[in-house]
Amino acid sequence: MPVGDNELLNMFEHVLRLSRVDATQSVAVLKSSYSNPKLAWAAMEAAQRLGAKVYAVELPTTNHASAMGNDLTAYVGDTPLSGHKAAQQALAGADLVVDTMLLLHSPEQTEMLKNGSRILLVVEPPEILARLLPTEDDKRRVTAAAKRLQKAKKFEVRSKAGTEFVCSVGQYPTVSEYGFAEERGRWDHWPSGFLFTWPNEGTARGKIVIDVGDIIFPFKSYAQSKVTLDVKDGYITKFSGGFDAEYLEDYMKTFDDPEVFAISHIGWGLQPRAKWSALGLYDKAESIGIDGRAYYGGFLFSTGPNTEAGGSRNTACHMDIPLRRCSVLLDGEEMVREGVVVPADQAVPGFKRAAE
Ligand SMILES: [Fe+2]
Repeated sequence: MPVGDNELLNMFEHVLRLSRVDATQSVAVLKSSYSNPKLAWAAMEAAQRLGAKVYAVELPTTNHASAMGNDLTAYVGDTPLSGHKAAQQALAGADLVVDTMLLLHSPEQTEMLKNGSRILLVVEPPEILARLLPTEDDKRRVTAAAKRLQKAKKFEVRSKAGTEFVCSVGQYPTVSEYGFAEERGRWDHWPSGFLFTWPNEGTARGKIVIDVGDIIFPFKSYAQSKVTLDVKDGYITKFSGGFDAEYLEDYMKTFDDPEVFAISHIGWGLQPRAKWSALGLYDKAESIGIDGRAYYGGFLFSTGPNTEAGGSRNTACHMDIPLRRCSVLLDGEEMVREGVVVPADQAVPGFKRAAE
């Protein structure tokens, strides 16, 4: 059922409070013509309720000539803020930017964070924001996992479907997403609940098998056939399988950029209210699909850019591919066993997986 304006306002107030918005703070709401006007409105109103100095920065939309589809993650790095010095200056004055456009993977976002701004991405529809309203407990679990990932040297993934993947980690930072941005220079995404890092350059190797039912973003579709990806020296070198393999390879090749085949962020989901099955219940245009990315015990890998991590790979194609029933190991210790989160410090008491 739709979320009403009053509930939406209360939700924004809750999340902005968690993001430490108060009367000492300035909040910018970044929006464009494709932003959900309800979200921009609620962010403005809720920030005022908390006494903050709030303002909006509205930019005309831009479209890259070679971009396909309307998903916000289908063509990344190039945003309405790219090259827009005046807007960048306006946003630089804010303690917190509520991003309803999706600056993710853009050099401008990296620059804003470096300068100390906090950024909270909010693009999902109100009903998903409500179901995945962040809590301090989300932060506790994700932070506990992030502490382990920060110390790890070796990241392995296995599955009965055939995944045998390994890489070294530690070269790039660990990013935790729990749904609010309360610290200087922090980026987060409401809703979320997962963590990730990037493989050390050139170390990712093995096989990743996308099984039937795993989700491929930005297609926003469940794989109907197995796809085997051979990975060598940090890059996908071969696609094998049926239609899904051919479709995925063809799509990635349309970018005509060898960097799209690099393995990008890798991590696991820790959000028990995110559901693997949710994707089938929403129109493709109304959600970017956070459920699929964050569901509890999923292994999420991706391809393409690493600019968020401070790397130089600024490629426009970014695939996010969450796999079910994988085991994820850090230095040989299981974080996830066949899709079930193992460490007690990441556990949700009483959580039961839906039948899959
Ligand atoms: Fe991603």
